[in-house]
Amino acid sequence: MSHKILEGKKGIVFGALDENSIAWKTAEAINDAGGKIILTNAPIAIRMGNIKELSEKIDCPIIPADATSVSDLENLVKKSVEHFNGKIDFVLHSIGMSVNVRKGKDYTDLNYDWLTKGWDISAVSFHKLLQSLYNNDIMNKWGSIVALTYIAAQRTFPNYNDMAENKAYLESIARSFGYFFGKKNKIRVNTISQSPTITKAGEGVKGLEGFLKYSEKMSPLGNASAEDCAKYAVMMFSDYTKKVSLQNLYHDGGFSNVGVSQDIIDLI
Ligand SMILES: NC(=O)c1ccc[n+]([C@@H]2O[C@H](COP(=O)([O-])OP(=O)(O)OC[C@H]3O[C@@H](n4cnc5c(N)ncnc54)[C@H](O)[C@@H]3O)[C@@H](O)[C@H]2O)c1
Repeated sequence: MSHKILEGKKGIVFGALDENSIAWKTAEAINDAGGKIILTNAPIAIRMGNIKELSEKIDCPIIPADATSVSDLENLVKKSVEHFNGKIDFVLHSIGMSVNVRKGKDYTDLNYDWLTKGWDISAVSFHKLLQSLYNNDIMNKWGSIVALTYIAAQRTFPNYNDMAENKAYLESIARSFGYFFGKKNKIRVNTISQSPTITKAGEGVKGLEGFLKYSEKMSPLGNASAEDCAKYAVMMFSDYTKKVSLQNLYHDGGFSNVGVSQDIIDLI
């Protein structure tokens, strides 16, 4: 049974590509919780992915936006206000891509043009989005903004490559912009640090299967699924978390605070 904790709330969800996407599951969970959304993704992802299926299923519009393009974001923000006939309450940034990871470049042999492109998509896009929301003043008081991240921002995971720096940058933006949003109109900005999850973006990371098994055995609660993450995001958009801001919130079954588990010791 779903609790309608987002009844009356409206927002934008970035990053639903296919049914495995964390943003896809979150859009469904928001819908179950009574919230209304606009879906958005890069134009190419809209053409190549299944997002139209999701928009029909939960009956919501899609407004294309390349999250690295300030003019696309400005257009999205303005059209969202028109669609909802007013301000919005929540935004999910669920975007990540490293060209170096995708093209199999090692961390010790990075292509810096690709690094810059991946940084823009995965991290700077969050600042561009926040700046558009802030300057157009389209968020309701006590609104909530969440971006997704991974623990490689704090600890070394060799195959996560330049995405580690992108996530560190993203988390820092959440803290810095969260300050200004909080002072301006009590809007909270947080990142959710999610367990490894099988998705299109996840599949790009070399050895993801091994990663998943390792963190499953390290986490007392086991890995958090995309559906679990979706429910956590719904709570973060609800009025139950009004005073949580500038935080990096681990949603990982306890992984982040375990040194070693007995399961791993037994294995070696
Ligand atoms: N899968 C994991 O193991 C995992 C773990 C922790 C955090 N995350 C994070 O969760 C978020 C969502 O990823 P996912 O795992 O659901 O994978 P996904 O591939 O389903 O989603 C990534 C999304 O980013 C979008 N995107 C890429 N470039 C874009 C651009 N220029 N403009 C707009 N959108 C763009 C893609 O179209 C896609 O929808 C990412 O930030 C990812 O780093 C994933």
